[in-house]
Amino acid sequence: MNTVKTVRELRAAVARARSEGKRIGFVPTMGNLHSGHAALVSKAAQRVDFVVASIFVNPLQFGAGEDLDKYPRTLAADQEKLLQAGCNLLFTPTVEEMYPDGMAGQTRVSVPHLSEGLCGASRPGHFEGVATVVSKLFNMVQPDLAVFGQKDYQQLAVIRAMAHDLNMPIQIIGEPTVRADDGLALSSRNGYLSQEQRAIAPVLYRSLSQIATAIEAGDRDFAKLRAEQIRHIEAAGLRMDYLEVRQGQHLRPATAEDRDVVILVAAYLGATRLIDNLHLNLNP
Ligand code: PAF
Repeated sequence: MNTVKTVRELRAAVARARSEGKRIGFVPTMGNLHSGHAALVSKAAQRVDFVVASIFVNPLQFGAGEDLDKYPRTLAADQEKLLQAGCNLLFTPTVEEMYPDGMAGQTRVSVPHLSEGLCGASRPGHFEGVATVVSKLFNMVQPDLAVFGQKDYQQLAVIRAMAHDLNMPIQIIGEPTVRADDGLALSSRNGYLSQEQRAIAPVLYRSLSQIATAIEAGDRDFAKLRAEQIRHIEAAGLRMDYLEVRQGQHLRPATAEDRDVVILVAAYLGATRLIDNLHLNLNP
């Protein structure tokens, strides 16, 4: 696996693979990789002949006071994991390589509606930063397909909409969330948790699962189900951001008739913001 830092080297390596008739897959990341990321790379490796991953902690998607500066940088360990998972080329650009003219005047990609509410409400500008960097990376790599984790459900919906609306000829694949044995969704931010907080964190998955079980059993009183679980989550010591039951594609509030439903949660455990979701297909 080669690691390159410049767009020129990246394009040359991808062009070589293409000239050998290879199909290209792409997995964008911010590094500090765990088994969830490895699953994305493995999925790409099953589908194509040449897998490109990127590691770039994108300043454009972090708000003031967020964890941009303390976001863990673990390149050597990440390279090892990517190699094991079947990655062929790693792109690790600097901020200057990605934004040579600075960020202030950078053309932005904004995906309305889907970017609003949920994480978009508490992280203004976040999804514009994500859509902008992902479209830049897509233009640099020009992959046939790209793989993203379903754990960032709203992000995946935003990227699907962006690729569709801007006629990007890239298949977007969502890969199921990888969980620890106690249900906690793997996330680079779990590393911020103390041992005590780590023991509390699986309450989010338990609450999602309880709502899912009730909905699958026919309960459609979403307001009651949410209120019950918000009480549980707060009693465990977390500060709620949101707990919502939404239609799975458009992310509007779910109705009793919806069959494609997603339950999404975000909450703070100390200073760490955790997110998770469960997607339900209620078709018989
Ligand atoms: O999910 C992430 O790690 C990031 O938001 C992404 C997609 C790599 C864009 O910076």
